[in-house]
Amino acid sequence: MKEEITLRVNGKQHTVNVDPATPLLYVLRNNLELNGPKYGCGLQQCGSCMVLLDGESTPSCRLPVSALKDLKIVTLEGLQEDTGKLHPLQEAFYEEQAAQCGFCLNGMLISGVALLEKNKKPGREEILEGLDRVLCRCGTHSRIIKAVETASLKTSR
Ligand code: FES
Ligand code: FES
Repeated sequence: MKEEITLRVNGKQHTVNVDPATPLLYVLRNNLELNGPKYGCGLQQCGSCMVLLDGESTPSCRLPVSALKDLKIVTLEGLQEDTGKLHPLQEAFYEEQAAQCGFCLNGMLISGVALLEKNKKPGREEILEGLDRVLCRCGTHSRIIKAVETASLKTSR
């Protein structure tokens, strides 16, 4: 049975009328038209559906919306400022040409932002660990790591 559920997404309250067991990813894409988070495996294994939940990068494909009423949810769309200025990590991905097909991009950016929020100057091992849950099929890991390092240099000055 459907229920009214209010979620805090990208700094705004949104009320949706859905089955409380609906995974967050479906509500983001279908109800709120936020298509940054992608559907990949649907099994919490590829990371393409990552969002920030109270600052932690978390796969959204199996998370029931009923469990998220009090949490702060940020999607890829919420990383840029209201002025349209991109997040420094988004800029660094562009500068380092770190994306290819885009399958992993959402998860890498969300996980990279979560990492940099906690650790402004992560070492290589810490970056690998921070991005560990996201699968990149194109093998652009070295450029992705470089992008995180570039963003870290910009933001930790
Ligand atoms: S779609 Fe959620 S982890 Fe793969
Ligand atoms: S750029 Fe294609 S999966 Fe990572």
